[in-house]
Amino acid sequence: MSKGLFITLEGGEGSGKTSVMLFVKEFLESRGLQVKTTREPGGIPIAEQIRSVILDVENTEMDEWTEALLYTAARRQHLVEVILPNLKKGVTVLCDRFIDSSLVCQGYVRGLGVDYISVLNLFATRGLFPDLTLWMDVTPEEGLRRINANSGREVNRLDLESVNFHKKVQEGYRRIQKKYPERIVRVDADQSLEGVYKDIKIVLETFLEKISLRDSLEGYM
Ligand code: TMP
Repeated sequence: MSKGLFITLEGGEGSGKTSVMLFVKEFLESRGLQVKTTREPGGIPIAEQIRSVILDVENTEMDEWTEALLYTAARRQHLVEVILPNLKKGVTVLCDRFIDSSLVCQGYVRGLGVDYISVLNLFATRGLFPDLTLWMDVTPEEGLRRINANSGREVNRLDLESVNFHKKVQEGYRRIQKKYPERIVRVDADQSLEGVYKDIKIVLETFLEKISLRDSLEGYM
């Protein structure tokens, strides 16, 4: 395989992304892939600095477009420093959040418009999309229950938003998944972690089979 695979994890707060990241990484490694895990916004010093500005609980004055631009700026830097160099080396990149988070949170939930946010992101990413996106679909009630139970976790500005915000996030992901049904796979994240892992294993196995078929056909084209 020449170019690395680009896989992203998406989902609302409390959807279990952190545990799933580790599971996906280990699964892919067991299949012989070299995997680089990273996250957005962040992953490298410049983007982590932007992250701390965006998520600072003191920054209540932040304009929604400023927020959207900051997420996009962090994405651009992260893409150039981490994602592209690894993909070029043939390393699989597993990223916690990417463009879909902006389409959902800024485009749909904040109401800036999915089309505007798409254009903004295409400008920053030059049209790079993940090969596969796992959407951890958690209901807002279950997600918030887990956040509250997990008291050691960092509480950020966006966690303080209302249940309605979390409901809109879920609806936003539903819409974006309809827009990209081939790329985005929904995983029921309300179930136990064992159930989640079982479902993800099937998704990844199917995905890797598809990729290996595609690679083997390449010589005939
Ligand atoms: P995290 O808690 O998964 O690290 O994500 C931080 C928050 O940033 C989360 O509430 C979702 C939000 N976010 C956006 O609103 N837009 C984006 O483009 C990204 C990457 C994250």
